[in-house]
Amino acid sequence: MIDIFALTDKHIVVTGASSGIGKETAMLLSKLGANVTIVARREDALKETLEAMDGSENHMFSCDLSESDGIAQLVSEIVKSVGPVDGLIHCAGIGANMPIALTKTATIDSVMKTNFYSFAELIRLFSKKKNFNSGASFVGVSSVASIRGDKTQGAYAASKAAMNAYVHPAAKELADKGIRVNTVAFGAIKTEALTKFLESGGQDAALKDQYLGYGEPSDAANLLAFLVSDASRLITGSTLVCDGGYTS
Ligand SMILES: NC(=O)c1ccc[n+]([C@@H]2O[C@H](COP(=O)([O-])OP(=O)(O)OC[C@H]3O[C@@H](n4cnc5c(N)ncnc54)[C@H](OP(=O)(O)O)[C@@H]3O)[C@@H](O)[C@H]2O)c1
Repeated sequence: MIDIFALTDKHIVVTGASSGIGKETAMLLSKLGANVTIVARREDALKETLEAMDGSENHMFSCDLSESDGIAQLVSEIVKSVGPVDGLIHCAGIGANMPIALTKTATIDSVMKTNFYSFAELIRLFSKKKNFNSGASFVGVSSVASIRGDKTQGAYAASKAAMNAYVHPAAKELADKGIRVNTVAFGAIKTEALTKFLESGGQDAALKDQYLGYGEPSDAANLLAFLVSDASRLITGSTLVCDGGYTS
């Protein structure tokens, strides 16, 4: 039997791997045989992820992805010391709950820098000659807020919608290089931030519409692993929705 999800010796970069969805995804990819390069700002947390991963060919890089100059240096260091990539999963992201009346350009800009500009810059740099292997798959972690944003999610929703819009031209432009580009719009996934919020008595208004219940980080990781595997080779330029029914 062919193991269609095997990622043996594929080099996959996962941003935002110091916690939550990114950490879970990095751990799963390593179990599936990938050599995983993890990126985020917090070195201690990245080390914990690295220790929880399988295999000996995993690497970590500390980088603030809201700084585009730093991204150029990061990509160059990753390619130089680890090699060209077979996949990128951009999980790094921030939220910013704020009513429209208070949402100034500076707030939008800060959210766009981490969530969207970094995605665009990583795609631009990793798709340069010698920085990727043919058959590579680039995936951005988006949100259902991009489709059905709730009150106070203006800047966040716009940043995730920008990611979704970007994959259409990117997929078409990069197809000749053998690169696929997609995003996944996730509904509520039970990462630490959400768990803390609920434990402190918070009520998540989204849950009543997410009728299959909260997702686990492993639900997100499974889909992301599929998207960087050859099993998804016909999927490009898409935003897949994984939301327990929220947008149905
Ligand atoms: N959980 C959900 O319900 C849900 C639903 C839909 C979409 N999402 C998306 O899923 C992604 C992961 O979220 P999560 O729930 O797993 O949250 P999380 O645990 O807070 O993870 C966010 C990750 O992004 C990294 N990050 C943030 N700013 C960064 C920066 N400037 N440079 C580099 N790394 C940065 C953080 O690492 P450092 O702090 O170490 O830098 C962390 O590893 C986000 O893009 C989020 O929008 C989450």
